[in-house]
Amino acid sequence: MDKILIKGGKRLKGDAAVSGAKNAALPILAAGLLSRGEHRLLNVPKLMDVVTIKRLLNHLGAAITDDDPDGCTVRMTGLNRCEAPYEWVKTMRASVLVLGPLVARFGEAKVSLPGGCAIGARPINLHLMGLEKMGAEITIEHGYVAVKARRLKGARIYLDPASVTGTENLMMAATLADGVTVIENAAREPEVIDLARFLTQCGAKINGAGTDTITIDGVESLDGSGTYRIMPDRIEAGTYLAAAAITGGEIFVRGCIPRHLDAVLLKLREAGVEIREEPDGARAVSSGRIGAADIKTLPYPGFPTDMQAQMMALMTLSDGLSVVTETVFENRFTHVAELRRMGAEIKIQGNNAIIKGAKRLSGAPVMASDLRASASLVLAGLAAEGETEIARVYHLDRGYERIEQKFSNLGADIQRIKPSV
Ligand code: UD1
Repeated sequence: MDKILIKGGKRLKGDAAVSGAKNAALPILAAGLLSRGEHRLLNVPKLMDVVTIKRLLNHLGAAITDDDPDGCTVRMTGLNRCEAPYEWVKTMRASVLVLGPLVARFGEAKVSLPGGCAIGARPINLHLMGLEKMGAEITIEHGYVAVKARRLKGARIYLDPASVTGTENLMMAATLADGVTVIENAAREPEVIDLARFLTQCGAKINGAGTDTITIDGVESLDGSGTYRIMPDRIEAGTYLAAAAITGGEIFVRGCIPRHLDAVLLKLREAGVEIREEPDGARAVSSGRIGAADIKTLPYPGFPTDMQAQMMALMTLSDGLSVVTETVFENRFTHVAELRRMGAEIKIQGNNAIIKGAKRLSGAPVMASDLRASASLVLAGLAAEGETEIARVYHLDRGYERIEQKFSNLGADIQRIKPSV
């Protein structure tokens, strides 16, 4: 398996262009199942998760052509199968995003239950509850959930808590339902808005995406075709801004939309980083001093759980005491043990991590446990003295496009080591 080797201590400087958002590309690709049209998607990130969903869509009956260096064309040519097998769902939970579209368009879907993952139990009960309210019949057998409905019916659905992929699955399903569906306490993440925009281009009638109440007026079919550009990845952008902060550098993140990152920018500024919002992106300028900051993860527009691990890496080098509280996932501190191996002083109390800023981190061999935990180890490695070797890089490849190349361009000493055969 590949490893990433970093010789830390370089002050990063330059431009990093942000790729398309993984968490928008996945539901938008899945939404291709709903449409009779042909869709050219641009700014599709080259990531393992995107490869996985494309394979799954091909297996279900979609034709996907990679006809653009940053894009692809999706067309549903006919249903081959209505099943998302365990092998795909276990490698990528977001495979459950095919559930809503399949049942809405073809009347049936069978998806492997995702089970737990490194960051928590992550159930899909809300996805199922919503489909049941829309009249679907649900059976769970042999680790699979089977959903059937001749035609889904509009319904009022309250989500508790506001699940991102739950909102997306139900919003997609409701586009072809008979009548009006109202999703209350809907997730407000920008990726939900991006999906709603794409669905609207296909012919769906959706109001309120980006607020906590989304209303979908079901239509008979989605026939629109066209070109759609996927939004930039706000978490990737936030990671590069944090990299400027932790290395005392200056990075312009091209394509970053600052209003998607309000909570993150607020905390970076609190930590003493100068953030300049420019017409084409955002620039982080660090003086080298890192102030302490308390962080509590929340659904959007609160501080994103997907930036928690990266900000914790930054806080390990602050000049004070910071408390990071994780409220979205119950087990999202797997990076802590690895950061400690690099000299970080972190105590865990329930869902709080108490971080006493250290003067320095020292490079060490570490192991990535999930996607964002891996990004936090890369940041720590960039700032640490000496060499950091990060194993299980496949987690990073799920969510960061050409990460070692983008960091090299900024002046980092970072390389991917392939196993010798
Ligand atoms: C999405 C993102 C992920 C991000 C997360 C939270 C994608 C592909 N992934 O994941 O990167 O970390 O949002 O911002 O967009 N829950 C239930 N029942 C459900 C569904 C969720 O109890 O049926 C709970 C979860 O356990 C969690 C909370 O709701 O505590 C939020 O999870 P959710 O928003 O569903 O996360 P994902 O959509 O899986």
